[in-house]
Amino acid sequence: MTVNLNIVPFVSVDRMMKLVLAIGTERFVLELATYIEEDFRRWELFDKTPRIASHSVDGVIELMPTSDGQLYGFKYVNGHPKNTRDGRQTVTAFGVLADVGNGYPMLLSEMTILTALRTAASSAVAAKYLAPEAARCMAIIGNGAQSEFQAIAFKALLGVDRLRLYDIDPAASAKCMKNLAGMGFDIKLCASAQEAVEGAEIITTVTADKRSATILTDNMVGSGVHINAVGGDCPGKTELHRDILLRSDIFVEYPPQTRIEGESQQLDADHPLTELWQVMTGKAVGRTDARQITLFDSVGFAIEDFSALRYVRDQLQRTGLYEELDLLADPDEPRDLFGMLLRAEKATGLAVAGS
Ligand SMILES: NC(=O)c1ccc[n+]([C@@H]2O[C@H](COP(=O)([O-])OP(=O)(O)OC[C@H]3O[C@@H](n4cnc5c(N)ncnc54)[C@H](O)[C@@H]3O)[C@@H](O)[C@H]2O)c1
Repeated sequence: MTVNLNIVPFVSVDRMMKLVLAIGTERFVLELATYIEEDFRRWELFDKTPRIASHSVDGVIELMPTSDGQLYGFKYVNGHPKNTRDGRQTVTAFGVLADVGNGYPMLLSEMTILTALRTAASSAVAAKYLAPEAARCMAIIGNGAQSEFQAIAFKALLGVDRLRLYDIDPAASAKCMKNLAGMGFDIKLCASAQEAVEGAEIITTVTADKRSATILTDNMVGSGVHINAVGGDCPGKTELHRDILLRSDIFVEYPPQTRIEGESQQLDADHPLTELWQVMTGKAVGRTDARQITLFDSVGFAIEDFSALRYVRDQLQRTGLYEELDLLADPDEPRDLFGMLLRAEKATGLAVAGS
């Protein structure tokens, strides 16, 4: 890795794609899941705050910071459900990992692809602790950008190999099915959410709509299933009928954020929520019986992005899949920032003070 202090390694979308392809998507998700679990197991050590959200009529822009005392990370992410109509992604992101000791960024990375990978890995890690034993069949409702990543993560971590797909737009389901062809899934396209959940032991909801939608009603959810609710992640943006929540044991990332953004925003402020890190460390129980409905009320928390950035950083030296970004001013004498500008004036012939 470079020792030039002005340079920050930058992982572009192109390099991220090459990195994922070089490692293999399944292996990437499996390895990323170990980083996520490692960080959940040391949860108490992190600085934690609900993400800082700027809401507008069409969407939200959020900043997600955290630190473990050695490293600091943040992600910039948006959520704009109408974006796909004019060719844009619903969710895009980029992020930074920095050295707490000197405050210097160590990595700047695209995180649109990385968010899909980390969201899927986090969902599958949660399901490892919560889904019914030997679950193989998953319904995926909402077959957009996140959907294939969810399928691959559940296959890699839990062995899910039967998928039941539903989307209000059949073209999205057809795209999802085509993209997953040859990856070892038995896939059924379904005509309704009701049909998709039939026989599924795990139900993933990953739709995008900026309102309180009801993707699943109470009668659609039988006993013993695990629900992986990914799409409800903003105030006023939910996917499940409240009655489902009342029948479920609910597991979350960070309650102060989930109570604002997750399905749990529909519940009383003191409704019991179990933190996932406590299940992982044995401080709380996960699934205790075969008839229990478990619900991972996922909203996405900063520590998952921190884990993802940490994982990517650890791949850079071995793979060389990054670019050198001239991001930080680095004068010969640290206090001579203006002098650096003057020397550039001489070198380029452009005037510092204007002409
Ligand atoms: N929890 C997390 O950590 C996390 C992370 C990333 C994205 N998300 C959320 O996941 C959701 C999906 O993201 P994406 O990038 O895949 O979006 P996307 O726009 O690419 O896909 C969403 C899909 O949902 C479908 N849909 C909308 N309403 C539906 C309904 N009523 N029934 C069935 N399908 C419906 C759309 O047709 C579309 O194909 C978004 O709401 C996003 O904010 C959550």
